[in-house]
Amino acid sequence: MRFNSRLISFLLALSVGLITTAFISLVKDANWRILFVCFAISLSSTFILCYFTLEFLVLGEINEAYNMLAKIKKKDFKLYKKKMSNITPIQKLNEELHHYAKNKQQEIDRLEELAMYRREFLADVSHELKTPIFAAQGFLHTLLDGAVDDIEVRYKFLKKAANSLDGLNGLVEDLFTLSQLEAHIITMKKEKFNIIPLIDRAFEQVEEMAREKKIFLIFEPEIEEIFVNADSEKMLRVLINLISNAIKYGKENGKVALKTSIDNQKLKIEIEDDGQGIAPENIDRIFERFYRVEKSRHREKNKGGTGLGLAIVKHIIEAHQSEVFVKSKLHEGSIFWFELACDEVIL
Ligand SMILES: Nc1ncnc2c1ncn2[C@@H]1O[C@H](COP(=O)(O)OP(=O)(O)OP(=O)(O)O)[C@@H](O)[C@H]1O
Ligand SMILES: [Mg+2]
Repeated sequence: MRFNSRLISFLLALSVGLITTAFISLVKDANWRILFVCFAISLSSTFILCYFTLEFLVLGEINEAYNMLAKIKKKDFKLYKKKMSNITPIQKLNEELHHYAKNKQQEIDRLEELAMYRREFLADVSHELKTPIFAAQGFLHTLLDGAVDDIEVRYKFLKKAANSLDGLNGLVEDLFTLSQLEAHIITMKKEKFNIIPLIDRAFEQVEEMAREKKIFLIFEPEIEEIFVNADSEKMLRVLINLISNAIKYGKENGKVALKTSIDNQKLKIEIEDDGQGIAPENIDRIFERFYRVEKSRHREKNKGGTGLGLAIVKHIIEAHQSEVFVKSKLHEGSIFWFELACDEVIL
């Protein structure tokens, strides 16, 4: 049953009328006519009084509060457009307040999430910067403290300091690229080009890394030419990142294969390794920046980076209106793949 001011006033008036009439009936000379007149007068006067009080004082104030709320909401969100014609102002206000509070809560949650993300990001960046700076600083101070006189140590320590600074430079460059990609400052310079020579170039750049781990690189294209519409430099970066990951996290004496296939004017590129694989609980997070499965800051030679590679890959692929996927089995290997629009190929 829906209560509105008319019904409430009537119920109140009825009870006041009945009570008054009951009292009057106790008077000795009271007859039916007197009782009826008394009932009618008390009912109607109470009804008018209650109705006007409710309608113009209480509900009027509520309506004003509601209008004020609507004005605040208009500034923040689009006005909640629900049909509210047949509900009372109190219900209307209630619904509006509920909706407003829900939106505000969502906004607070989002801001809290962003603040946490910012804190984590700052902590990660400073940690990643600290590691190579401390290392280079350590080597240089050791040299200044006297080791510089020993030619062999001098060369070794200077080389190590230079390597740390190279790493730092790589990290800053990756961070810069990532921030530009996220802010959409870097736009993709799309052009039509044959991707096969680009894949060869990517393999050439990781050859040394693969040789050190005795990893066999496999790429046997069935076709010599596959024309795609993409940013070639960014694509090279994607390929190098994915292939070098496959080598870094691949097993010694293992293999890394790149396969291409075309379906419906879409080129699919798959990079497969038979390495350590990724556990299911980590797989959803590997594309986050700074996320590394091996949290240990102690890194094996050639293994583990800053955790920015896949975040960059994801942004570049998304800027090509596509997605990068991964399938992996722990201790068995992983496959990363993505698709690119390409010209039709006649085999
Ligand atoms: N092919 C793979 N096999 C197993 N794990 C992988 C593979 N590729 C990525 N990962 C996991 O995902 C994490 C994130 O990879 P990503 O390329 O973003 O960072 P990274 O290789 O650690 O550092 P960076 O690429 O910035 O030098 C890696 O640390 C690794 O744990
Ligand atoms: Mg990587």
